[in-house]
Amino acid sequence: PAPPLVARRLVGRHVIVTSGPTHEPIDPVRYIANRSSGAQGTAIAAALRDMGARVSFVTGPAEVPPPEGVEVIAVQTAQEMHDAVKAALPADVAVMAAAVADWHVSNAQGQKIKKDAEGHAPSLQFAENPDILAWIGHLTQDRPALVVGFAAETNDVVPHATAKRLRKGADWIVANDVSPATGIMGGSENAVTLISDAGADAWPRMGKDQVARRLADRIADTLEEM
Ligand code: CTP
Ligand code: CA
Repeated sequence: PAPPLVARRLVGRHVIVTSGPTHEPIDPVRYIANRSSGAQGTAIAAALRDMGARVSFVTGPAEVPPPEGVEVIAVQTAQEMHDAVKAALPADVAVMAAAVADWHVSNAQGQKIKKDAEGHAPSLQFAENPDILAWIGHLTQDRPALVVGFAAETNDVVPHATAKRLRKGADWIVANDVSPATGIMGGSENAVTLISDAGADAWPRMGKDQVARRLADRIADTLEEM
């Protein structure tokens, strides 16, 4: 079947999308990471592209391949993702869908850590990563007109996401309940609540592609109203 016709309402707009996990090295062969397939961020980038936007797609090592027809900037760590987002500015819109690792290993080793003869496990030390969403949300120069973050929560979804929206200076937070009972993590569907200054709008459970198209439509509506 022919692809559905999409109104190219985002021609001339530049959107930055972050997606996937970040990998934070422990040594050359080991890392820590979040669980994230990259499916939702990839679907959002594709939906924005279909509407005619120029998309800078800053992605960590995701399971799903990046969409075609976007500029792919592949990164590993949160710091690299931060640098890539900075380099991609200015933009009309930023959608931060990546599952960024909150910490990196501050005592990462340049050589593979070997087991020692006495069976002592190594100690890892952690340091906080830059918060890319909070950084872009609070920019005073070159802040995108619309900054959209995500919040994956396992409990008290709306209060946590509402607090995140304010703390990070985001216009919208796309909140989702990732508690294991929902089966959403790693699946093809999502049930999200869009948090904005107008309050919380709970969308019905739908495919990640449909969530992406609906979000892209809302983005186009909002840019047209500005
Ligand atoms: N985010 C980011 N950079 C980070 C951490 C998070 O850009 N270092 C972004 C994510 O891409 C997402 C939003 O911030 O859009 C919320 O991420 P989340 O992990 O839910 O928020 P945190 O502030 O890290 O809070 P928590 O303690 O719940 O993990
Ligand atoms: Ca986090």
